[in-house]
Amino acid sequence: MRHFILFSRTGWTRGNFIDPKKAGRLDIVIHCLQAALSLSGRIRKDVVFHAILGGPPRPPVHLEFVGSKLKDFRSDEKELTKLLRKVLNVKKISERIEVVDGVFVEKKSLQKVVVELFNKGVGIFVLREDGISMRKIKLEERDKCFVLGDFIGLPKKDENFILRYAKNVVSVGPLPYFASHTIVVVNNELDNLEYGIT
Ligand SMILES: C[S@@+](CC[C@H](N)C(=O)[O-])C[C@H]1O[C@@H](n2cnc3c(N)ncnc32)[C@H](O)[C@@H]1O
Repeated sequence: MRHFILFSRTGWTRGNFIDPKKAGRLDIVIHCLQAALSLSGRIRKDVVFHAILGGPPRPPVHLEFVGSKLKDFRSDEKELTKLLRKVLNVKKISERIEVVDGVFVEKKSLQKVVVELFNKGVGIFVLREDGISMRKIKLEERDKCFVLGDFIGLPKKDENFILRYAKNVVSVGPLPYFASHTIVVVNNELDNLEYGIT
């Protein structure tokens, strides 16, 4: 299983927005969601996409989209905006709730989500432009999790915490990509590895 965690420090935690870009850059969450879960004409069933939202009014909110459980998932921006609104409009989020098939919401921090995955044996990797090339590291675990920052990057405090659990800081190239483009590259690298293409 592949996990991606996007930390959006400003993403709104209620669905009362019109333009996701003006809702603490929720547009980045939408682009990452598309990049993580969509193939041409089908869903990646081996991917779980997580977004941790740190914006108002009730942070931190953990959204989880489980590829193997999604039904009627439409990956165009308009539909994803509607889905995000619906998920964020859930009144009580203290407990984990499945809002629609395969889409979960709960109140949980980035650090807690990372530790829970680590405790399940998932290999944690931080994505950063100045990390070790992804092509140079061993990705032998079956389950892997890649943690990304948003337009600002990961907060230092959280990054330092995650690095206590992470195997490596990895890079997909020497240039700064959009978070969503980084996810596309990681998915492509893992596809090639799994299909024995080097
Ligand atoms: C738009 S970038 C953030 C740029 C931000 N100014 C910073 O200093 O982190 C969003 C995220 O994409 C990931 N990213 C961007 N380029 C990357 C690269 N070449 N290799 C690995 N991760 C990358 C990182 O996780 C980064 O936090």
